[in-house]
Amino acid sequence: MKNIVILISGSGSNMAAIVRAAGRQRWAERLNARVAAVISNRPDARGLQLAANAGIATAVVDHKSFAGREPFEAALMQAIDAHAPALVALAGFMRILTPGFVAHYAGRLLNIHPSLLPAFAGLHTHQRAIDEGCKLAGATVHRVTAELDHGDILAQAAVPVLPGDTAETLAARVLTQEHLIYPRAIADLLRTL
Ligand code: GRF
Repeated sequence: MKNIVILISGSGSNMAAIVRAAGRQRWAERLNARVAAVISNRPDARGLQLAANAGIATAVVDHKSFAGREPFEAALMQAIDAHAPALVALAGFMRILTPGFVAHYAGRLLNIHPSLLPAFAGLHTHQRAIDEGCKLAGATVHRVTAELDHGDILAQAAVPVLPGDTAETLAARVLTQEHLIYPRAIADLLRTL
């Protein structure tokens, strides 16, 4: 069985979309894959309860209880590796990862970013797209490399930026597409593993 471990920090709607797709599309039978665990760096992440309700193992590795990035990541890697993952999917995981962590999961670490990369790496993507007068915005599923929001692009979806959009209305429009492309990109990749 190919195990998927999903890392979250907040609401976990992308994680939930992946879990839903795995169930509806019967990934266990068809792809020999399952979401084995959901791990959060924040104890209050709403997604944790959601995952637990779906019968998925959950864990918290709270970055605040470690003296620095390296010990935090060591504990995080231990929690992840307990599930021997074929894929590790970052889904709204709001910690910058060291090159050592990224190298440890080379080729099996994915992220979803709420912009049409390579445009708008980093934070505040929706406001920046509005401020630049972009007519299209979107989301990107990519492999994670040591450089923030870089790495091979696996899937993208575009949405229009509409007159009067705020960062919030645009984010909501982009998020509906994230929920489609992230599960699809993961399923596509699983077929090649
Ligand atoms: C998404 O927009 C994702 O692209 C970004 O953070 C947000 C997380 O949302 N990295 P959720 O936790 O999946 O609901």
